[in-house]
Amino acid sequence: MINRKNLSENFFNLYGKPEEKFRIFFAPGRVNLIGEHTDYNGGYVFPCALNFGTYLLIRKTGENRIRFSSTNMEFKADIPLSELQKKQGEEWVNYPLGVIDQLRKKGVNPGGAEFLYSGDIPNGAGLSSSASIELVTAFALNALFSGNIPVIDLIKLSQKAENEFVGMNCGIMDQFAVGMGQKDSALFLNCDTLDYELVPLKLKNYRLVIANTNKRRGLTDSKYNERRSECESAVKYLSKGKQIRNLSELSLEEFKEMEIFIPDKVIRQRAMHVISENDRVLRAVPALKSGKLELFGKLMNESHDSLRNDYEVTGPELDTLVEEARKLPGVIGSRMTGAGFGGCTVNLIHKDHVESFLYELSKPYYKKTGLKADYYVADIGEGVREIL
Ligand code: GLA
Repeated sequence: MINRKNLSENFFNLYGKPEEKFRIFFAPGRVNLIGEHTDYNGGYVFPCALNFGTYLLIRKTGENRIRFSSTNMEFKADIPLSELQKKQGEEWVNYPLGVIDQLRKKGVNPGGAEFLYSGDIPNGAGLSSSASIELVTAFALNALFSGNIPVIDLIKLSQKAENEFVGMNCGIMDQFAVGMGQKDSALFLNCDTLDYELVPLKLKNYRLVIANTNKRRGLTDSKYNERRSECESAVKYLSKGKQIRNLSELSLEEFKEMEIFIPDKVIRQRAMHVISENDRVLRAVPALKSGKLELFGKLMNESHDSLRNDYEVTGPELDTLVEEARKLPGVIGSRMTGAGFGGCTVNLIHKDHVESFLYELSKPYYKKTGLKADYYVADIGEGVREIL
């Protein structure tokens, strides 16, 4: 948890005028339980919001500029309102700038302000630190500058900010989970219609433990965008058999009959992952609802294997963490979460074995990769909000 007193001191050290109050907003990170790389294919996902995330301290100034700082990053910016539409290299401020760009397109014009961000989500770990920054910015500016934009539209515009301003072609899952998360629930979301259901996370004697590979996700954005276009190619090929808008319109049975329309083996594998992953989510949700946690864990395992073999977004670090975790007592499911290529795994573990898990997994992981893993026992929290 972030220390409010330190943050407040930090804010006044940076910006002065302790007599003028700031407001504090918070947006969580997220962990996805199952349904990976399905969102931009109009499929199903099953994420939850975490209780750690990004805090934003913000104060209106009435000046014609916005100042951006973060306790996590060295880069600071002081940008006139007339230049907010310019991208700042590859810096983190592109996330808030992208959001401001989208808010302006909706007729909300943020005036002068001072921002201080502070996050406790590990960066680049695949727990959605970027969606968290986007949503906390959108929510705070909407509140400060009387935007009256409903949260669902803040979610959509945050995704657009990332697609258009940052250049990462992400789907809607992260922003949705960060915006709509509820305590101790997972969100069963149809990414085509945006219909969703909150499913209570009844884990009985089991706990969700997130393990961070601490492998920086270097080429993630380009590889991610490449997977998206491979899925688009699959849709084109399959449309020779049946007109479809996206891969998720096909059931696994239909796909098995139609896969011959895809001449390229790799494209066929990508489609197979997406369609089989949708099928797994549709089986995992009722499994959780009816307390069949062993089945839920088995589907998590199958999800990882499909991401490794067919979608090829795992890599040696994620695969080692998963393989070694599955050997340990009490572990009934282990898979990568998020975009992949590094980042985190999520593990379903009997509570009596959590402590030994943390210890036992580190040894073989370090031996095989030379990296030190970090762990977080996931606490499922609320979506974006003001902290009063
Ligand atoms: C990233 C993206 C999401 C989603 C996942 C993979 O987190 O931001 O939209 O595609 O990868 O499931």
